[in-house]
Amino acid sequence: MKPFQMGLTTLEQEVNLEALPVRGRIPSWLSGALFRNGPAHFQGGHWFDGLAMIHKFSFKAGVVSYANRFLRTEAYRRVMSGSGSSGFGTGGARGGNNANVSILKIDHHFLALTESPGVVEFDPADLSTKGLFPFDDEIPAHMTTAHPHLDIHTGQIINFTVQFGKTNQYHVYTMDPVTAKRRLIGSVETHEPTYMHSFAVTQRYVILVEFPLLIQAAMLAGGHSFADSLAWKAERGTRLVVMNKATGNVERIVQGEAGFGYHVINAFEKGSDIIVDVCMSGSAAAITNLYIDQMTSEAEGQSHPKFKRFILSPGQPDARCEVLSPETMELPSIYYKQCNGRDYRYAYGISTSSARPENVSNQLIKIDTATGQAWIWHEEDNYPGEPVFVPTPGAIEEDGGVLLSVVLDGLQGKSYLLVLDAKNLEEIGRAEVPHHIPFGFHGIYTDERMI
Ligand code: CO
Repeated sequence: MKPFQMGLTTLEQEVNLEALPVRGRIPSWLSGALFRNGPAHFQGGHWFDGLAMIHKFSFKAGVVSYANRFLRTEAYRRVMSGSGSSGFGTGGARGGNNANVSILKIDHHFLALTESPGVVEFDPADLSTKGLFPFDDEIPAHMTTAHPHLDIHTGQIINFTVQFGKTNQYHVYTMDPVTAKRRLIGSVETHEPTYMHSFAVTQRYVILVEFPLLIQAAMLAGGHSFADSLAWKAERGTRLVVMNKATGNVERIVQGEAGFGYHVINAFEKGSDIIVDVCMSGSAAAITNLYIDQMTSEAEGQSHPKFKRFILSPGQPDARCEVLSPETMELPSIYYKQCNGRDYRYAYGISTSSARPENVSNQLIKIDTATGQAWIWHEEDNYPGEPVFVPTPGAIEEDGGVLLSVVLDGLQGKSYLLVLDAKNLEEIGRAEVPHHIPFGFHGIYTDERMI
């Protein structure tokens, strides 16, 4: 059994723990909660298909409490009653709103998201499921992303949907962060829709990064799983579709080298260039690699994504592509509220040690985009999740704060919440959970007054 196996093992218990044992110290200025989303009940198949569980770490005066609950969705009821499930890597009847990918806060509503359009609201106090969040408008959607942006230039949320039909379309829209009112910015017809897990915004543009991994809508409709309905077409290259946010017009489609990535790290305009940073690997193996039997197989050495930068210059039909670091990086994060869509210096993520390659990430990384310098936190047989940056109150510098990451201690089979100094990735403290927390995807930190 691999030391990270517990990260892919079902967690049954739902608990509410007042004060976790702490090693080191937890900064007393941390006063709020980290909400995490991820799969926690597995039936084999694909990692992405585990049933959604919300985890909450609350911080007050150096004390950390923890609670977790499954989302009570149609998918949950189906699986728990033994009538089967479906999803990303499993065929059959689709749907059920297994919203296990990310969390979005709109006004005082906490929403769990996935790539099907149904959005599940939960109560941030006791993590109980409130039900589907109602939108009072019609943006046509068969799929969407679980990575809406908060556009810091306008204060609006931006996301897009995919609509399959005679002509397939992407619909890019804004959403008001208080009223949740949505407004269409623009639509793009596409002969061959591609799988986009996230996208980019800058001051003036929305950029859809079409990796050459095509969604074959007819196969989806025929009951194949989403993963099985994807087709890799490297010769198509990567297309960066640049839409003007103000007009909804596609101003350019720029060609880039082929590859696949789940996550855009950040994007911004620099002079007349547009920069798009992504975690990208050379093929679509990032989809099939994440079947649980693949992850836990004896074969190591999966291709992990690297930090790549597309540079789109005016008048150039092709984007230049640079590798910013030889280290691998996934589940990227930045000082989002300050840097999203703007020139920035630091990115954080999970990574795989080149000295000890494994099929899951086994270290945390910080990359200086200006110099390529990397800082690494690594402990043998420990497996971190997405690092979330929280700025120290009053901090001026972009990396003045801490990183919060849920880490699996593979030897003990238990998890802990790790607090690192974002400057140098040195440990400040950790709060220990009495059980394991399955590997998750994304989360948010929110101040106490916002809960
Ligand atoms: Co994601």
